[in-house]
Formats: sequence, structure tokens, C-alpha cells
Amino acid sequence: MMLPASPGRVKLRAVPEFAQTIIAWQRRHGRRGLPWQGTRDPYRVWLSEVMLQQTQVETVIPYYGRFLDRFPDVRALAAASEEDVLRLWSGLGYYARARNLHRAARIVAAELGGRFPDTAQDLARLPGLGRSSAAAIAAFAFRRREAILDGNVRRVFARCFGIDGYTGSRAVEHRLWKIAARELPQREIGRYTQALMDLGATVCVRAAPRCDACPLAPRCVARRDGRTAQLPAPRPRKPCPERVVTWLVLMHAGRVLLERRPAPGLWGGLWAFPETEPG
Ligand code: ADE
Repeated sequence: MMLPASPGRVKLRAVPEFAQTIIAWQRRHGRRGLPWQGTRDPYRVWLSEVMLQQTQVETVIPYYGRFLDRFPDVRALAAASEEDVLRLWSGLGYYARARNLHRAARIVAAELGGRFPDTAQDLARLPGLGRSSAAAIAAFAFRRREAILDGNVRRVFARCFGIDGYTGSRAVEHRLWKIAARELPQREIGRYTQALMDLGATVCVRAAPRCDACPLAPRCVARRDGRTAQLPAPRPRKPCPERVVTWLVLMHAGRVLLERRPAPGLWGGLWAFPETEPG
């Protein structure tokens, strides 16, 4: 039996707010027991966020433990030689991070009396901290209501809100920061920040996202439109440069003349027919 449509009585199912949805999800399904969770010591939070830049959790865990054993606080790190710091960092990659970490520790110890800045803005002045890392530290250690936007979080927002365009472009990045600020919860900023990171790392992954396990699936624009594989859009490729040349195929007595190409450039160091520009 068909029921007549009843104009004026549209049934709306309330979709819980973005932040509340992922906070509830984090409580049940988020990562727990990571060594930097459960502390609000800014030194420990800072160290974890720097180590986790461009590096996976499983890789970081043993380095984090060894580092803290050797340098339990910011003064110990500031007093170390760069060589010692680099030795403990060895294998973690992106060594500029270790040098910046060491420089920042010296600034905190010598110029700030051993106390970390407690706002994202001031944290971002320390060497090695970008806007998102500084915001994460401010949220975790000082419960500041600050927005993060690392690579994983860009992907979550781009898909959920259907943001087209390369997320590294200025215009798209600006839009994403606006969304990140708009969706901030009034409470539980630490759990919310962790929820975004966990979703990006474990569910809303780049290839083959696990939408069936995603709390945002009912409201996700990319999923609704079947565009999870297209969003976020990849970096636009530079058009392939075209060059037209003429090859000289010079043969004599069953032999062919080849010459070695100059080392920098296309096919550098390989043997090829001599080449001239046409015209
Ligand atoms: N990546 C960056 N910060 C992180 C954190 N606090 N926990 C897990 N992954 C992260």
C-alpha cells in the first residue's frame, strides 16, 4: 500500500554534531594505551608530536621510550650534545626534526625558565613546530580549543565535507582550516583531537577506506557521491614538457654512430643517436 505523501511533515533524523559523533566513536574504538596518551606533561606531548610528524605510531613507540629514559625532561635534553640527540634519533628519519627539537629544548630551558609556552600561537614559534603540531600540543597538554590539520585530518575533512581541489593549495587549505575551526567542540578537546587523528589513521585511510566502520559515514559527502577514491584530489601534475629533436642515424660499413649523452638531463650518460634541434 502506498501512503500519501504528507506535505509539511518531513521526518528528519537528527544527525549528531560532527564532533560529538567522533568523540563517542573514539571512546569505544579509538586507539588507547599509546605511551603518550594519559599524560599532560607538555615535554612528553611535544616529544610525541614531533616524533609522529611523518612517522607511524608503531615506529615511534620504541624511540619514544628510549628517548625519555635518556632525557626525562626538557632540561636534560637541553643539556645534551647534539651528537647524543642524533644518536637516539638514528633510524627515525627526517633528522632536521631532531636538530630542531634540540634547539627548541635549549630555548625552553634557557629563555623560558624550563616552561613550555601554553598557547598554540606561542608554541608555533619554537623550531620544528608547524601550525598543526603546535595546536595538537596545545590541545593535549593545555586543553586549548585549537584546530589541527595534518595530512590525515585533511583527508577526513575533504571527504566528509566534499571539498574538491588539491588540499595543499592555498585556497583549499584555507577552506579546510575554516572547517577545522568551525567543527571544534566546546568540551573534550583532547579526545576530539585524538579522534580525528585515529579516524584518519585507522578508518578514513587513503586507499580502501573502511567506510563500514566509520561513524561519519551517514553524513560523508564523498561516500554519498561515490567519490571516496577521488577525494582528496591529488597534487596536480605538471604538464609533461615536450621537446622535438631530430636524430641522426649515421651508418657506415654496417656500423652506426652513437654518442654518449651528457650526464645531467634526459637519459644522462646513456648512448644514443646524435641529436639536433629541428629547423
Ligand atoms: N599522530 C600525530 N599525533 C598523534 C597522536 N597523538 N597519536 C597518534 N597519532 C598521532
